[in-house]
Amino acid sequence: MSEHPPTSDPTPPRPSLPPGAPVVRSTSAPGGPAPGPAPTSPGSDDAAPSARERAPRTERSSRRPHRVPAPVGAAPDDGGGEGAGVTRRSFLKAAGYALGAVAALEVGGVALAYLQPRAGAGQFGGPVEAGAVDDFPPGSVTQVAAARSYVTRMDDGGFLAVYQRCTHLGCTVPYDEAAGLFVCPCHNSQFDDTGEVLSPPAPRPLDLFAVSITDGVVVVDTSAPIARGSFTPDQVAYP
Ligand code: FES
Repeated sequence: MSEHPPTSDPTPPRPSLPPGAPVVRSTSAPGGPAPGPAPTSPGSDDAAPSARERAPRTERSSRRPHRVPAPVGAAPDDGGGEGAGVTRRSFLKAAGYALGAVAALEVGGVALAYLQPRAGAGQFGGPVEAGAVDDFPPGSVTQVAAARSYVTRMDDGGFLAVYQRCTHLGCTVPYDEAAGLFVCPCHNSQFDDTGEVLSPPAPRPLDLFAVSITDGVVVVDTSAPIARGSFTPDQVAYP
């Protein structure tokens, strides 16, 4: 009779490692399957993952946050999120402040313009007394600095107030006594004593200011220059 090995211990004996070989420790629980891919021979039961391998996947899926369905009738999400809402509110707030500032500036500007003192009598921009009628001999041209103009006394006794600003580009035009002309120093435009153009480039006569004579006093109203196309007798004021 031959002796048979006992059948109650199916575990084969572990081969002994040579001295110095690296020891690989298993991370699985004692008694569990060895780590690493399972045998994948088709058709065998070993190809299916074991319950232990499936367990971590089940645990991960159980940790996923649950999506809470939106309540019925809730506004759809515009994709902005809370940050976008704050940005939108900040923008609207800043726009409101800007509009308020512009409105305040406009109101302030109007109030300031209203409160500005107007040119009073004797100042340019208002009525300026040029002098007594007899101060202007007929056929004379007299500068009135306060009115920024020249008072021309015509040979027939009438008055013109000629604005000293050139109608070309606005240079101050002096009167040349010797020549009996207004001569612009900028581009040499020339005007006669009524302001009519004698030589361009000035495109039109010198502007006038309205003249009134009250109680023997010549008053030049400098509030608004009067443009004209040419000299006409109706522009002359008489005492
Ligand atoms: S500005 Fe007087 S001629 Fe040009």
